[in-house]
Amino acid sequence: MTTALDQDAVIRYEPRGAARALFKSRADELVIAGPAGTGKSLAALFRLHLTALHNPGIRCLIVRKTAVSLTSTTLVTFDKKVAADALARRIVSWFGGSAREAACYRYSNGSRIVVGGMDKPEKIMSAEYDLVFADEATELTITDWEAISTRLRHGALSWQQQIAACNPSHPTHWLKLRCDQGDATMLISRHRDNPAYVNPDGTYTPTGAAYFKKLDRLTGVRKARLRDGTWAAAEGQIYETWDDAVHLVDPFAIPDGWTRWWTVDFGYTNPFVLQCWAEDGDGRLFLYREIYRTKRLVEDHARDILRLVRRCATCCKSTAPGHDCHACGTCVLEWTEPRPRAVICDHDAEDRATLERHLGMGTQAARKSVSDGIQAVQSRLAVAGDGRPRLFVVRGALASRDLLLEEASLPMCATDEVGGYVWAVKPGNAGGLKEEPLKKDDHAMDALRYMVAARDLGARPSVRWLN
Ligand SMILES: Nc1ncnc2c1ncn2[C@@H]1O[C@H](COP(=O)(O)OP(=O)(O)OP(=O)(O)O)[C@@H](O)[C@H]1O
Ligand SMILES: [Mg+2]
Repeated sequence: MTTALDQDAVIRYEPRGAARALFKSRADELVIAGPAGTGKSLAALFRLHLTALHNPGIRCLIVRKTAVSLTSTTLVTFDKKVAADALARRIVSWFGGSAREAACYRYSNGSRIVVGGMDKPEKIMSAEYDLVFADEATELTITDWEAISTRLRHGALSWQQQIAACNPSHPTHWLKLRCDQGDATMLISRHRDNPAYVNPDGTYTPTGAAYFKKLDRLTGVRKARLRDGTWAAAEGQIYETWDDAVHLVDPFAIPDGWTRWWTVDFGYTNPFVLQCWAEDGDGRLFLYREIYRTKRLVEDHARDILRLVRRCATCCKSTAPGHDCHACGTCVLEWTEPRPRAVICDHDAEDRATLERHLGMGTQAARKSVSDGIQAVQSRLAVAGDGRPRLFVVRGALASRDLLLEEASLPMCATDEVGGYVWAVKPGNAGGLKEEPLKKDDHAMDALRYMVAARDLGARPSVRWLN
């Protein structure tokens, strides 16, 4: 596809397969779904950009669950791969937003592409649109999706369309069901649709070969979804009712009155996991911070977490080069959040002693019984009478990404583990009786279970202060 922009600017984009079908469809609701890196986002972004260029005065929306995730992913692709030339030639200009108006791309022909997250819906949802693109749409709730559809009535274009792009999720995800029921049209995007990765004869480009090497290292349900593009649930998934749209919440200011707990699962080659939990007045648990890292000593983790929860209140004002308030001993540090009522740990005696020494806090041995712990987590994940579950993970809880894990395509946090946390089928057990979890990629799942077990299965734990 070649489009002339003004006199001399030209965009070259070759849509293949589902991307090509996307350009031809006039369906009201369109879902382009497929494994990672097939060109879904690029196709939908080009669809909006080219439509905005050719149709003066239209209004489009690019939306994701959170504004932050949109800026760091989809809009980077838009700026660099889709509208770079138009931006450079000022056919399109970026407007950063104001108190009244949402951020948007302004086209010289009067068209607009507004951008925003459903975490701050006020500005984007007060306007009307001709075309909407929701990226990573499995993150949205059906309520988000339906709310967006009410905004599709601008009428400057003769047709209106709501486009979703996503990787497959579990087989009963509302977006998949919507397509199965005929309320939306699904286009299945494949790696062969992406000329950056796959040549027309099916061989891989050098970039594609490197990319597929990473995807091939995935395992279990993540491989099924991101490499093979199937709407799969892990066979024997333990927390079957886990649903990102229900159990993930946006960051919020956690009241100081909420009780804090820390849970720890030790590891060096395997990840060390430390989770910070907040418990609201009704006993709901929120995982709001997570350290998930390999190849670091317990004392390094202790230092990391203390740096995250303390700041320098009275500085010694040392001018020594490399002065570090957290290490200096003269600076007075204060906590920026309530101290945990207990630090609930995996049982390794030596690691616990090291952690206690470096945190200056006592720890408690976790209640490790697996079967009743899992049942307790399952009951918390179930949606209660008030329409909410009793356990949540705050988006962005991960303190920092472990690049070694990222490179190896291994889980990097609790929400990466949950879909692949499965029952082991014991050898010789003909009925495949589900007795215990597979001991793989279960580190955050253990720490999460310790938390729930401590609250729901045992006596109320408390912390001993060592200094
Ligand atoms: N038709 C195309 N021509 C040139 N490059 C393409 C094309 N389609 C995709 N690419 C490139 O391939 C890479 C992956 O594309 P994109 O991010 O759109 O994939 P995706 O399917 O949205 O991935 P994810 O599942 O991770 O969201 C990007 O660098 C993109 O520029
Ligand atoms: Mg994408």
